[in-house]
Amino acid sequence: METLHEIPALRARLADWRDNGLRIGLVPTMGNLHDGHLALVEAARARADRVVATVFVNPLQFGPHEDLDSYPRTLNDDARRLSRCGCHLLFAPSEAAMYPHGRDAHTVVEVPGLSAQLCGASRPGHFRGVTTVVAKLFNLVQPDLAVFGQKDYQQLMLIRRMAADLCMDIEILGLPTVREPDGLAMSSRNGYLTPAERARAPALFRTLQELAAWVAAGTPPAQAERDAAQALSVAGFEPDYLSVRRRADLAPAGPQDTALVVLAAAHLGRARLIDNLELDRIVAEAH
Ligand code: PAF
Repeated sequence: METLHEIPALRARLADWRDNGLRIGLVPTMGNLHDGHLALVEAARARADRVVATVFVNPLQFGPHEDLDSYPRTLNDDARRLSRCGCHLLFAPSEAAMYPHGRDAHTVVEVPGLSAQLCGASRPGHFRGVTTVVAKLFNLVQPDLAVFGQKDYQQLMLIRRMAADLCMDIEILGLPTVREPDGLAMSSRNGYLTPAERARAPALFRTLQELAAWVAAGTPPAQAERDAAQALSVAGFEPDYLSVRRRADLAPAGPQDTALVVLAAAHLGRARLIDNLELDRIVAEAH
């Protein structure tokens, strides 16, 4: 596997592949790769002739008091893991290569509305940073296919919207969340958990499963959300949100909506964890 850090070298290699008619898959990451990321690479490999993974801890998507400085940077390990799973090219640019005029002077891409709710409400500007860097990576790589994890459910929806709105001719593939044996969604931020917190962490997914079961059984979403938040607090979390939304647009679930997703974000010690679960609610016919 080749590792490149500079944009001109990346463009040259990609032009070569494109001239040879090769189909290109892209897996954007912030590094500190776990099995969830590698599943994205494997899915890209199965659908493309060449796979480009990117590792870039994107400063634009971190708030002023967030974990940009302490975010784990493990490029050598990441390169080894990517190479072992058949990735063809790792692009790991510097901040100067990505934002030559500085973080605050860069053109931004923002999806209005959808980016302001849920995680966007607690992390203002976060999704503007995500869509800006992903748009930039899409323009650099011009992949046929890009693969993302469904753990970042709202992010995936925003990227799909951005690509559709800006007529980016890229297939966006979302893959199911990869979980630890006890149900905890794999995340680079799980590394922030102390052993005691790690033991409590699976309660996030268990609570989502309970919330989904209550809603599927007919409990009004607002009541189910309150009960689930209470259960999560008892388990030692500080809930940010637990919300029942429509899968189509992430609007709050109305009484007639059937295709739903429950989403949660909660703090546990230093870590802010997110997770989600799709469910189908059976709505009784009104006579
Ligand atoms: O999901 C992530 O790791 C990041 O948000 C992404 C998509 C790589 C953009 O920096």
